[in-house]
Amino acid sequence: MALIPYALTRPFLFGLDPEQAHDLTLGALARIQHTPLICGVAQTRVIDPVTVAGLTFPNRIGLAAGLDKNGRCIDGLGAMGFGFIEVGTVTPKAQPGNPKPRMFRLVEAQALINRLGFNNGGLDAFVANVQRARFRRNGGILGLNIGKNAATPIERAVDDYLLCLDGVYPHADYVTVNISSPNTQNLRSLQSDEALDALLGAVQARKADLAERHGRNVPIFVKIAPDLDESQVTVIAATLQKNAIDGVIATNTTVARDTVKHLPHAQEVGGLSGAPVFEASNRVIAQLRSSLGAAFPIIGVGGVMSAADALAKRAAGADLVQIYTGFIYQGPDLVSQAARALAGR
Ligand SMILES: Cc1cc2nc3c(=O)[nH]c(=O)nc-3n(C[C@H](O)[C@H](O)[C@H](O)COP(=O)(O)O)c2cc1C
Repeated sequence: MALIPYALTRPFLFGLDPEQAHDLTLGALARIQHTPLICGVAQTRVIDPVTVAGLTFPNRIGLAAGLDKNGRCIDGLGAMGFGFIEVGTVTPKAQPGNPKPRMFRLVEAQALINRLGFNNGGLDAFVANVQRARFRRNGGILGLNIGKNAATPIERAVDDYLLCLDGVYPHADYVTVNISSPNTQNLRSLQSDEALDALLGAVQARKADLAERHGRNVPIFVKIAPDLDESQVTVIAATLQKNAIDGVIATNTTVARDTVKHLPHAQEVGGLSGAPVFEASNRVIAQLRSSLGAAFPIIGVGGVMSAADALAKRAAGADLVQIYTGFIYQGPDLVSQAARALAGR
C-alpha cells in the first residue's frame, strides 16, 4: 500500500470537475516524480515476469493509454507498481481537443464518459518527455500509442500514423496503432476491412525500414473498439494475421449506453469506460482468442475495477491486462492487487 491512502485523496479529487482533478493530479505527479516525495504514492512492483510479443514484462498489469497523453508522468506512474505503461495517444501536431466540459463521472456505475478528442502537445514534445523518463531503465515496459490529427482528412490518416511511427519508434518497447477512439471523426472506420488492410500494410512496410535503420524490432499492437460484432472481429483478426501484426489491445471505450441510460451524464457524447464496458470487452477478447489461436498476444482492457476482474480478463484470453477507469476509482492499490492475483497464472 502507498503511504498516502487513496481513500483519503479520492473524496477531494471527486469533489472537483473530472478534468480539473486529472490535470491537478498529473501536474503534482510530474513535479514530485523525481523527488523523495514520490514515496507518498509509490508501491513495490509485483515481480511476475512474463514474455509476450518477445518483450519481458515485469508483471501482467499495465496502465492503459490516455491517462498520460503527453508522457509527462511516466516515472511517477511507473512508481505505482505497473509492469508496463502506455502513454499517448499522440498526434503529429499539437491539438486542443474538443471544447470543455468533455469528461464526466458516472459514479454509481463506476464509469467515465470522455470526448477529449486526442488533446495533446504533439509528437516533438511527446518524444522529448519520453526520452527523459527512466521507467524503461528500471525494467518497465513502455508502450507509445499513436493516432491522427483531427484536421487530417481520413483519406490521409496513414500519413499521420507513419509520421508518428517514425518519431516514436526508437523510444518505444512497443507501439500501439489506435484506430478505435470514438472521439475523432471517422477514426473507427479504419477498423473496416480494406482501410485496415491498407493502414496495417503501410505501417508494417515502414516498420521494416525502421527496424533496419535502428537495428531493433519494436512490436506493433493495434487497439480496437468493443462495439464490433462477431463477423467484424473475425475480419479484423484475419487482417492482423495477414499483416503480421504483433498483438492486439481490446478494447477502447464504448459508444453503447444500454447499461447506464438511467444515470446522469449518460447521454453525453463520447466513449464510456469502466464497469459498463467490462462484458463487451471480454466478449471481444474471447472472440479474438478463438480466431487468433493460443499464441497471439492479446492485451485485455475495459472495466477492470478489482483483482477478480483482472482474473476474468485472463480467463477470457488476455495475456496482459491494462487499467484506466479502475485506477481512477480504486487508486494505486488496484495495481498491486491485480498484479498479485495474476502472478504465476
Ligand atoms: C479519459 C480517457 C481518455 C482516454 N484516452 C485514450 C487515448 O488517448 N488513447 C487510447 O488508446 N485510449 C484512450 N482511452 C481508453 C482507455 O485506454 C481504455 O481502453 C478504456 O478506457 C477502457 O478501459 P477502462 O475501462 O479500464 O478505462 C481513454 C479513456 C479515458 C477514460
